[in-house]
This record gives sequence, structure tokens and C-alpha cells, in this order.
Amino acid sequence: MIKQNDPLANYLHLKPRIDGAVTRVLSSGHYILGQETEAFEREFAEYLGGGYCVGVANGTEALFLALKACGVGPGNEVITVSHTAVATVASIQMCGATPVMVDIDAKTYTIDCGQVSRALTSRTKAIVPVHLYGQPADMEPLITLAERHGVYLIEDCAQAHGATYQGRKAGTFGHAAAFSFYPTKNMGCLGDGGAVVTRDRILYDRLLGLRQYGWDENRISITQGFNSRLDELQAAILRVKLKYLDKSNERRARLAQAYNGLLDGLPLDLPREVLGVTHVYHQYVIGCQEEPIRDELLSFLYENQVQCAIHYPVPVHLQRGYARTPPVSLPVTEQTARRIVSLPMYPELKMEQVEEVSNRIYDFFHRSAR
Ligand SMILES: Cc1ncc(COP(=O)(O)O)c(C=O)c1O
Repeated sequence: MIKQNDPLANYLHLKPRIDGAVTRVLSSGHYILGQETEAFEREFAEYLGGGYCVGVANGTEALFLALKACGVGPGNEVITVSHTAVATVASIQMCGATPVMVDIDAKTYTIDCGQVSRALTSRTKAIVPVHLYGQPADMEPLITLAERHGVYLIEDCAQAHGATYQGRKAGTFGHAAAFSFYPTKNMGCLGDGGAVVTRDRILYDRLLGLRQYGWDENRISITQGFNSRLDELQAAILRVKLKYLDKSNERRARLAQAYNGLLDGLPLDLPREVLGVTHVYHQYVIGCQEEPIRDELLSFLYENQVQCAIHYPVPVHLQRGYARTPPVSLPVTEQTARRIVSLPMYPELKMEQVEEVSNRIYDFFHRSAR
């Protein structure tokens, strides 16, 4: 079976270095918030081009703490998308704020800025664009909107480590940005992990307090907070992974180009790379013309030893746990969820496997002369 994703392959690829980092931490006797976390925070901030980084327990809490640091709470609205991981919306709900889910652009699958403009109210406190599948959302109009309305802009970078927009790294445009290091991400650790990055010293100081009970350096709580820490083992592993991030993103881009060439001419929407953007292909997502064909294609590929996925099969606004009252209707999001398929994509995927997947897709469309 060709896997859709394979974090084990990435570990095996870097095994001697990761094992070395793990042994170093195990023998250090220091497992939470020590020199590995500090070094990773410094190195990741540098990689992004400056600012501050705060390592936290996972990407959901990175978003939650970023929102909290901006003062988001009950009575506030936060505008985001429904075509995302539930985590994005859950983090807003965790603050006690109201998520306002808007539609996406049909070509890029990222937030539709016109919709954001229409959703702004006097209660809006923040906008959370998601750089979905590895492609940054259109930040320029969002920055203008956020400035004009005096609201915070917080980037969900869980799928966009190393992606760029107009020459700058994703995660450097908003007041703060949240990263996930879930094992399957472009830069994943071997457990849970996340980080908030910001260039704002005040937000940084608040985040340091929020991740650990509002403690000062003497472990006295001067504000209230939580427990959300990146541990030393994960930080040490991430220091290894960071060194390979650009290379593995380049590999993803090459695999994507190969898919583009091989699937050209089939009745499918292939990923659109926007001008001025570096797409880091966390996912390579194709769109079928309609749902029955998509479902048939998925089964056909599975029967032919190709594992695919759907990111995401049910939009968040249609999931009972996070549905809004009155219900919202997001036609582009709903249509997209019925048509998409995420093909196998990870840096260790072989070119022959990309050819194999593409050949099976070609077979699917030609077996009954569709
Ligand atoms: C877009 C997006 N936002 C947030 C998250 C949450 O990250 P985590 O799983 O580390 O909590 C994820 C990952 O699942 C994600 O894909």
C-alpha cells in the first residue's frame, strides 16, 4: 500500500541524528523547559526572520494562547474558515469567544477576503486565516482590513512551515502565528508540540506567562495561566527537523510538480499556486467534478493499494459539536468538501510511487471511458 503520509519514514531517514538528540536529553536529567526548548525557540524565530517564539504543548493550544494573549474572550467574535481542521475553531471556542466561519476562495481553498470584510462587526476581535495545505492565504488585504478595523490578525500556520508570501515567511504577517508540530506536519515532532511566534514584545511576555500559570521567574503567579509547554525531547527532535525543513519542502514541491505533469489533462482540478507564494505542499489536493466520482475514485485507489485522505470531509460548521445557531451556509466550503482528495504526499515518497498513483488515477478515468 502506498501511504498517504508516513512520519515513520521521516524518522528513519533522520534516525542517527534524532536518536542522538533523544539520548542527549535523556541523559541530561532535564525534561521540561530547559536549554533544548530555549535553543529551538531561538532557532525557529531566526528561521522565520526574527521575533520571538514560545514553545507550547500543541498547535491547538498555540492558537488558543495566541488568542488569549490578544485578550480574546467571551463577547468577542473571531473570524475564520470552516474548511480547516476542527482545531482552528475549537481554539476560539476555548477562549469563550464566538467563531464566525466564512467561506473560502474556490481556487486556493484559503479564506475569502471579501467574506471577511462582510463578517466584521463591532464585536470582532481577531481574524484567523489558515494557510491551508501549505499555501499562505492572501495576507495583504487581510492586513489592510485588520489595521482599518483595529482587530488582531493571527495566522494558523499548522500546515505552512517554511511557506512564503511575497518573499516573507508565513507566520510573520499577523500579530502572532501558531504552529503545530504534530508528527505528520511539514516539521513534525514525535509526539505533540506547537509554538506561537510574534514580533510583539508585550504579546511575547504575556505568552510566557500564559503557558505556565502566569508565573514570574520566581514561580509566583502574577497573572492566571495554563500548563502548555513544549518538552525537551520534542524540542531536541525539532532542532534536528528544522535543519532539514527547507530541503524536505523542496522535495514536496518536486513531487507536486511531478503529479501536476502526470495528471494534466484529466478531469480534475489540480492545486493552483498563487503568484508570489511558495507553496510547501503539506497536502497535494485534487478536486473531482462531483461527489460520486470522488468517492468512487477513493475506493478504486484503495483497492489498488493507494491510500488517500480527505482534508476535510465535513466542514466544521456542519459538525454537531461546532455548528452555529442559526445555521450558516458556506456554499464554496460545502462544495469543496464533496470534491477533494488528498493524494500521498511526504518527502520520502518515491518518484516511482507518484507515477504509480498517477497511473492508477489515469486508469480510473479511462477504464469506463468517463
Ligand atoms: C490547520 C490546523 N490548525 C490547527 C491544528 C492543530 O494542531 P495540533 O494537532 O498540534 O493541536 C492543525 C493540526 O491538526 C491544523 O491542521
